Order: sequence, then C-alpha cells, then structure tokens
Amino acid sequence: MTGGSRPTKAELLARAAEAAGRYVAAERDGRASPDADAVAALAGFPADALDHPLPAADALDLLDRLGSPAAVRTTGGRYFGFVNGGVDPAGLAASVLAGAWDQNLALPVMSPVGAHLDTMATAWIVDLLGLPAGTLASFCAGATVANLTAIVTARDALLRQAGWDVRARGLAGAPPLAIATSAEIHASVNKALAVAGLGLDTVTVVPTDGCGRLDPAAFAAAVGPGAGPTLVIVQAGNVNTGHSDPFAAVIDHLEAVGVRDRCWVHVDGAFGLWAAAAAPDRRHLVAGVDRADSWATDAHKWLNAPYDCGLVAVADPATLRAAMSMDAAYVTGAGAERPLMNLGLQMSQAARAVPVWAILATRGRAGVADAVERCCQLADRFARRLADAGVTILAPVVLNQALASFGPGPDEERVDNGDALTDAVIAAVQAEGTAWLGATTWQGRRAMRISVSDTSTTEADVDRAADAVLRAWASVR
Ligand SMILES: Cc1ncc(COP(=O)(O)O)c(C=O)c1O
Repeated sequence: MTGGSRPTKAELLARAAEAAGRYVAAERDGRASPDADAVAALAGFPADALDHPLPAADALDLLDRLGSPAAVRTTGGRYFGFVNGGVDPAGLAASVLAGAWDQNLALPVMSPVGAHLDTMATAWIVDLLGLPAGTLASFCAGATVANLTAIVTARDALLRQAGWDVRARGLAGAPPLAIATSAEIHASVNKALAVAGLGLDTVTVVPTDGCGRLDPAAFAAAVGPGAGPTLVIVQAGNVNTGHSDPFAAVIDHLEAVGVRDRCWVHVDGAFGLWAAAAAPDRRHLVAGVDRADSWATDAHKWLNAPYDCGLVAVADPATLRAAMSMDAAYVTGAGAERPLMNLGLQMSQAARAVPVWAILATRGRAGVADAVERCCQLADRFARRLADAGVTILAPVVLNQALASFGPGPDEERVDNGDALTDAVIAAVQAEGTAWLGATTWQGRRAMRISVSDTSTTEADVDRAADAVLRAWASVR
C-alpha cells in the first residue's frame, strides 16, 4: 500500500471497508482469541511514528496486517467470555457510515439526523424494556456510566426532597442518605456509589440466595417503616448466574411499610433487563422492574450494538434534567426537548443512536425477542452438554449465563474441591482456542463462566465449544 499518490478520504474508506470485509469473512474461522504469535507481532507497530509519521495508507495497512490477527473474535460465535456481545451486521455497517458523518450529539442543532434517530431509538428501547410511559432515556458510554448517572440523579432528588440542594451545598453536612444494595450487586455500582461521594461503608448490604437473588425477608428487615431517604439498588441479571432480584417483592414491601416515596429504587440491568424484551414466557424473570425509578442497561452487550453504548433511563424526567443540566453563553439550542448534554454526564458525544436505530429498525420487536430467547436456549444447551458429561452446573440456567465447576471424572477419585481443576480446564480451553471462556468465583467455588451474548452464535458453535471444554477437562485431570 506504500508509494504512489496519497489516497483520498473516499479511497481510504474503501480500503478500510475492504479490510473489514476480509476480517468479517474470516471471523468464524480459526481461534476465538489471538494466538501468541499474533500478540507478539503487535511489537511491529512503529514506536517512532509520533516523530516519523506514516502515510495514512501505511497506517491502515499496519492495522490490517498486525491489528486484525490480534483482535479477539467476540463476533465469531464462539466467544463466551465476560458478557461481551458480538456486533449486529446492520449496526456495524451503520456505525461505519455514522463514523463518516462524524456527528456530535451534544445538542440537536449540532446533528439534526443524530437527534432524530436518538429520539426514535431511545423511545423504542423504553418500549421494548417495558419501562413506564414518560420515562426519559439517554445513551452513554456503558452501564457503569449509566449507573453513575442514575445514582447521582437519585442522590440529588432524595436530598432535595429532604431540603438539601447538593448542587449548591455539596455533600458535607447533608442529611443522612441510606443506601441498600444486594450483596451480589455488580462492582460497577459500588464504583459509581464511591465516585458519587456516597461512601461504601455506609451501604447496607442485603444477603442473597444460592442464585444471587436478593433475599426479600432480609431486605424487609433492612429497610423498615422508619426508613429515611433511601437509595435501593437492585439488579436484573446477576453477572455470574443471570438471575434477577425480586423487584415486585422489594417494591411491594416499600409500599406496605409506607416508605416508597422516600426511597429511590435503581435497577442495574446491564444485560438482564433485556429479559423484558424476550418472548412472554421469560419476562417473568424481571416482573415488577417497571416499578423502579431508574434503570441502567447496555446496548453493546445483548443488543450487539458496537461499543461503547449504554443507556440510562429515569421515570421522572425532571430529576435527570436537574442533576445533569449545564449552561454556557455559547451553547445555543439547549432549550430543545432532548439536549443530550443535559441528559447525561457527557457534553460532546458520539452518535450512538445511529447503529442502535439500525439494529432495532432491522430486527424489529420480534427479532430482538428472538435473539434474546435464542441466547438463553444456547446457554441452557451449553450447560446441559457439560452436565450430561458429569460437570457440575452451579445455578439453574434461566438467562444467557451459566456457571460450570469441574471435579474429577465420573469414576475418578476426588482430589480437591474442583477449584484447581476448574482453573486448569479454563486455562486449557483458552490455550486451545476453539472457544474463549473466563473464570469467576461463585459462592466460594471457582467456576467457568459461560455467557452467550453474541447473537450470531449457533447450536453448532455451542456444540463445538462444549466439545472443546470437555476435551480440555479430559486433558487436565
Ligand atoms: C450487571 C452489570 N452491570 C454493569 C456492568 C458494567 O457495564 P459496562 O462494562 O458497560 O460499563 C456489567 C458488565 O458486565 C454488568 O454485567
């Protein structure tokens, strides 16, 4: 690609599209993660380019030659690590076009097309997730940021109700704000609480059951009739088991003891909230979730939007606007109905809505439900394949997550509690490369985490991956 005249922007884009096309054509072949040689070859990116800049075509060539082989194939159907979604074809293609547009969605005046699609896409998600009419939703970088945005909004609203203006007076000397979370709340919620100045030592941690669901009786004991302003944080979709907290029981209790209006219920539903968009027989998993005050979710996980794309939603729009508004003399058009710089933490922001619009417009309600359902069935299939061979599945599979613990084989003598063997199986699977699965500790036991979040995954992918896991198990014991 070196030499000759400098390619135009359009020519560069065509070359990038050609390289991307080659990448996606091969994404289902080979390993799910790069091999050691591909990672070592990353040293070939010239470290002196800052002082000796490259022609754009050469930079692109390096990205293609060195970068593509070292990319983790989260989009190839056999990546089951973390809760990393794949990428929807229409969403990916739309993001390429949106990249060329280079829109800033801080204000509608900066991008009428972005603002228009943002209004549509957020309304569709509110609808799909079954959130109350009038809910205000806004895209952000991910569920961590969505949690932080909602927690700051809740903090300000609860303290305002108690007669304290956090914006004006800060937190020093503020009335007490109680916080209750489930013991299994995602780490990003604790990070958000800390960043919001709410002090993790002040949190009442409510115990959970064997599936990671908050215990309603323990919650009732923790938040009683005498509760003052309280931020309650529960979750849809435990990051290990996929189980959700009993939202209806939590909110019924708050109502029964007469403190609902002094409590703000926030739901972290980074992926689990999408159960509400599933076929009717899976929606019960998040029953009552619509009665909360705010929600955090991701589009880059289960919806398979490109990174980075989360969403915060708040039932009372005025609270989000009050917490997130800003003003400056040069800012024009902030009085628009959806000035995004006033609906979240960021001012300048990517047109995240564009790929999301494309995904939702092409899949439709039924397509989203089908994708969610298929991932759940595939997680169940994966777990059953392992269980049939004697692997212990640590919690019933209800969503797209499963946990596996590896003991000795059926006729072999037990040498430990399976932790060392489980770690060895995971390491062997990762080294072999057919599939990628990560590790966790679940209620004191090491476990392999299986997350089916790439909606291009097929039954054949799951079977290949399960075979690879069983081969690895046989090889290490
Ligand atoms: C339940 C839950 N909450 C929050 C997060 C954080 O999401 P993000 O990585 O988009 O910030 C995750 C990520 O896995 C999650 O599973």
